[in-house]
Amino acid sequence: MEEKLSFEYAPTPESRALVTIKPKYGHFIGGKFVAGSKHFPTINPATEEVLSQISLAGKADVDAAVKAARKAYTTTWSKMSGKERGKYLFRIARIMQERSREFAVLETLDNGKPIRESRDVDVPLAAAHFFYHAGWADKLEYAGLGTTPKAHGVAGQIIPWNFPLLMLAWKVAPALAAGNTVVLKPAETTSLTALLFAEVCQQAELPAGVVNIVTGDGSTGALIVNHPGIDKIAFTGSTEVGKIIARAVAPTNKSVTLELGGKAANIIFDDAAIDESVEGIVNGIFFNQGHVCCAGSRLILQESIADEVLEKLKNRMAKIRVGDPMDKNTDLGAINSKEQLLKIRELSAVGDSEGAQRWSAHCDLPDKGFWFAPTIFTGVTQAHRIAREEIFGPVLSVLTFRTPQEAIDKANNTPFGLSAGIWSEKGSKVLWASQQLRAGVIWANTFNKFDPTSPFGGYKESGWGREGGRHGLSAYLKGVSHE
Ligand code: NAI
Ligand code: MG
Repeated sequence: MEEKLSFEYAPTPESRALVTIKPKYGHFIGGKFVAGSKHFPTINPATEEVLSQISLAGKADVDAAVKAARKAYTTTWSKMSGKERGKYLFRIARIMQERSREFAVLETLDNGKPIRESRDVDVPLAAAHFFYHAGWADKLEYAGLGTTPKAHGVAGQIIPWNFPLLMLAWKVAPALAAGNTVVLKPAETTSLTALLFAEVCQQAELPAGVVNIVTGDGSTGALIVNHPGIDKIAFTGSTEVGKIIARAVAPTNKSVTLELGGKAANIIFDDAAIDESVEGIVNGIFFNQGHVCCAGSRLILQESIADEVLEKLKNRMAKIRVGDPMDKNTDLGAINSKEQLLKIRELSAVGDSEGAQRWSAHCDLPDKGFWFAPTIFTGVTQAHRIAREEIFGPVLSVLTFRTPQEAIDKANNTPFGLSAGIWSEKGSKVLWASQQLRAGVIWANTFNKFDPTSPFGGYKESGWGREGGRHGLSAYLKGVSHE
């Protein structure tokens, strides 16, 4: 009989001493940290410990930030050559690399994501976005976006909590490369790495006012969206808020890009390599606690291999290590906030009541903090809410199909269209399926791969415009049509 070996993992915590967190933060306006008036706490979602007090920006703060951004645009940034702008971007990228451990620890403490992911994914990719866009700054005329590309002016940027530093990089790097100045607002639960980035801007001696960071909640976001001194709005977050923003900017001259939600289909055909597919399913939905707009949250499985895949998937899920995000062996960290945990629980309960079958990996969850075990629902039909709505957590809905056309029909039966995955050994089937799928990003025999050179964005309720690559750059230049 085969003897099963089991290894216990000893704790391997990353050092918290790598970061100094101030008891209270203000805003970063005109190159300086300025005190805020009202404050709210930011917590570590793995322990519920209060990390710091963050300022809630009101009208006066947002006005000051827009004014500083306008002044920097008119007096400095718009007058500077692309080559000079590029130097600053390179400098920022290099400092981010030098301070990468600090960024990773701070991101993990404030967000709850495993240190392995912040260290190996978020921070290196954020630096890569600055490096990539630094290269564009002096070559805008050659990007195929017109011979005299012009910046919009001041960009207002609002980002979510799932990839705080990375989403900042997706927004700030192309804006600066194209010659805009920025007012950015991080999400209310994850402001700390944006405030550390402000320090990096000082360290890089970026001219005052080119990047301004105001912290706060939706009310601060709305002040940015509705500010008459802003020329371009870039938003990543919920479809609900995306619609509010689209309505707010419709009667104005503001240019807008929206990166919203998704309910991606991850399609496994019967000729796929099964073990690799199982890894891809796990990476697709359990990466970053499932707080990923392009997560492979709908598994669309060919019926003939369904039993085998599900058995292997459950075995694999049982090995996912859930717990302390600061431990280097942790795979799945804490849910970002109590509100998000309640949303995941609520939608999962709807799955139960609509008749889907829930299975969760057994794991000992810590007493404090916000946790949700990796979960799958089988027997899901297209009408179920867990097949239609974004759960934004470690919860996978499993549907099956018999013919390739049925897989495509089910995959496209969604109000979203951000991403999709296809698993098949046959290149012709992969190409055929990718042409049928209405999704902005399609991965074949892999999932959740990101690169600054590659445009990212969706169809339908997943948003407007693209980020990354030449397409993303075009959103920060005047009069360039977005493909
Ligand atoms: P949200 O859309 O409310 O928050 C995203 C950002 O928008 C935050 O910085 C927030 O302060 C800001 N914001 C909120 N209301 C605003 C307004 N009226 N005007 C301008 N800015 C505003 O998302 P929330 O409430 O944190 O999460 C709710 C759901 O949204 C999640 O369960 C998930 O399904 C989805 N979501 C999707 C994301 C994505 O990457 N596509 C990211 C975050 C959330
Ligand atoms: Mg926090």
